[in-house]
Amino acid sequence: MRIPDIIIAVDGYSSTGKSSFAKIIANEFSFLYLDSGALYRGVTLFAIENGYIDADGSIDVPGLDKALGGLDLHFGEKGTYIGDRCIEREIRSLAVADKVSPIATVPQVREFVDKKLREFGKFKRVVMDGRDIGTTVFPDAELKIFMTADPMVRARRRAEEMHTKGEEADISEVLKNLQERDWIDSHRETSPLAKAEDAIVLDNSDMTMEDQMKWLRNIIAERFCCA
Ligand code: CDP
Repeated sequence: MRIPDIIIAVDGYSSTGKSSFAKIIANEFSFLYLDSGALYRGVTLFAIENGYIDADGSIDVPGLDKALGGLDLHFGEKGTYIGDRCIEREIRSLAVADKVSPIATVPQVREFVDKKLREFGKFKRVVMDGRDIGTTVFPDAELKIFMTADPMVRARRRAEEMHTKGEEADISEVLKNLQERDWIDSHRETSPLAKAEDAIVLDNSDMTMEDQMKWLRNIIAERFCCA
């Protein structure tokens, strides 16, 4: 299927399979895939390791803000990096998941991440997943998808994903984490998780990836009249 040079924004709740879907879209249409959550997770790991957030979740905002100026966080060959250190594994841990939503409420952190993300928009042919891509990062994205699914289905999927990576995952803990993140993400002041007015909702509770791709190809064919 031919597809014009567009930006595809994939937003939605935690663990709805945004990144798996976005990666397959990127592969099918030869688009660049960008995981905006990885950058928030990277800032969170940096904040934990350098003491800008403590165990009870209080954040040293001025300290973190200052330190962001010297933080070399970027995408590389094997995922997300700080300098030349690949942090892909650490950022997927529950310890990081537990602190990422509070860190993502900090406006200076959002500014830091948004600036990096917008750089990639220049090239078009980008599919980016996150919480505010269609509302804030790329409000002019030509195609916006908003993903949702039953919380128990999401917790089961995430726990399975963690198990396959050899990580411990207690399903009730995973469920609690994703519900907490959804609440914080939807209620924060700066760019909360919300469906863009022009986004199309996809509830994939009972859908396979092939179902999702079929759904998407129909939309693309309708919208962009390509064959
Ligand atoms: O993959 P999962 O749904 O677990 O989350 P993620 O995409 O890795 O994002 C982790 C966290 O980063 C989210 O819970 C949000 O708090 C934050 N985030 C955000 O605020 N804005 C984005 N565009 C992407 C992620």
